[in-house]
Amino acid sequence: MISPDGYPRSAVLAGGTFPGPIIKGNKGDHFFINVEDKLTDNTMVVNTSIHWHGLFQKGTNWADGPAWVTQCPIIPGHSFLYNFQVPDQAGTFWYHSHLSTQYCDGLRGPLVGKGTPPNPANKPDPFKVYDPNDPAKHMYDVDDESTILTLADWYHFTAPSAPTPAVFNSTLINGLGRYQNGPLSDLAVINVSYGKRYRFRLVSISCDPNFIFSIDGHNMTIIEVDGVNHQALTVDSIQIFGTSSLRTIPGQRYSFVLNATQDVSNYWIRAQPTLGPNQGFVNATNSAILRYAGAPEQDPTTNSSSSQPLVETALHPLVPSPVPGKPVPNGADINLLLEISLDPVTNKWLINGTTFDIPPAPVLLQILSGKHRPQELMPKGNIYELKPNKTVEVSLRLLPGTPGGPHPFHLHGHNFYVVRSAGNETYNFDNPVIRDVVSTGTSDDLTTFRFRTDNAGPWFLHCHIDWHLDGGLAVVFAENIPEIAHENPPIAWDQLCKIYNDTIG
Ligand code: C2O
Repeated sequence: MISPDGYPRSAVLAGGTFPGPIIKGNKGDHFFINVEDKLTDNTMVVNTSIHWHGLFQKGTNWADGPAWVTQCPIIPGHSFLYNFQVPDQAGTFWYHSHLSTQYCDGLRGPLVGKGTPPNPANKPDPFKVYDPNDPAKHMYDVDDESTILTLADWYHFTAPSAPTPAVFNSTLINGLGRYQNGPLSDLAVINVSYGKRYRFRLVSISCDPNFIFSIDGHNMTIIEVDGVNHQALTVDSIQIFGTSSLRTIPGQRYSFVLNATQDVSNYWIRAQPTLGPNQGFVNATNSAILRYAGAPEQDPTTNSSSSQPLVETALHPLVPSPVPGKPVPNGADINLLLEISLDPVTNKWLINGTTFDIPPAPVLLQILSGKHRPQELMPKGNIYELKPNKTVEVSLRLLPGTPGGPHPFHLHGHNFYVVRSAGNETYNFDNPVIRDVVSTGTSDDLTTFRFRTDNAGPWFLHCHIDWHLDGGLAVVFAENIPEIAHENPPIAWDQLCKIYNDTIG
């Protein structure tokens, strides 16, 4: 039982807290994360499975975590050892349950990969590796980078009993918040000292809403997007004391630099949801507090000034990276158009006319047991075979009249170049943003991204609104099937699903 917003409810937690404990590592580290299922409350899902969002899992597809894609669910009384290396990634990630809508009930938390390799004598901190000619290089040099800000939607009902649509009751920043007409419960306080420069890591661990994020009186200089360093971009550089804002969709992360150079005082940190009845800041809902050392311990009285929102097309990777394929629309080896719609009768989500239903066995297990032809793989119509060493272009479009947008789409096993952002008629093949969750438009509009098939495995591509994923808004890319068939997971596959099958049936 926890009451993060003053309303007690039963929750599904990792390590007993919401959000779950911060998992930290260094670039190059090997992670051994043993997940023991001790869940007992049958008003929620008691099986589980955990995904390490944003990590590529190269060569360890089996440790990726999505139930029914790479594994059977873990059942109460049993455990699963996720055992993988993170050789070449550093930045801001997160982890969450990837079974049903379980993470909405609490199983979600941050994961941070520091740039320092295990032996710091080897190399300088990659966070501080920058192009010496980049005028923004100083932005990577901060006094403190320990602050993580998680943004979450929170519900007063359990996910299995959620009504349709499921509307959240409160916004939690670092696991604390208030609901409308609820008690004035504690808010998260972020302490800073005047004159210092901070790297803040912002993680949307949302199940559903987007948030417009801002800090009164302060600009934010973005330096990292979804685990990739980007050229420093100060949102709202025009207004000196202006407030800048950025929109996070479920699953996205940003690091930004904040200069603590305003008056010693308290300032509202705002995460305004873009849907639901909880908009605004009545009784400090949707808020946390930025407090300077020496300021009184009281609520801020600041107002948000007009804000200049982040535009995705203004983001560019710090290390320029050529987009694979030809710099024209449909210029990849494989060009896929995925059209999204909602079946009004079944209320299931469709991609190119088919919904993702739970398959009879995890897709990985199907491949390992000898099904190598995509037409043999279940669920039918949702599995796309991708040959190795190809460039893939994926375009996402909502068929006219499709509700629920914008939909945040996440690809496992990769990040991607966003060559056309929602709401843009034009393509950008010149150093576009690299990320692992991208927004579709709300209407008949294209979002297009590219990646290389350099990672064997069945990888999920799905809407990160957990209610929509549960409603089938997903496909699987079966990448390099012959190589998957040769992979040897260091665990007894049939045994794992046997425990599940023998117990659950
Ligand atoms: Cu963060 Cu498939 O998810």
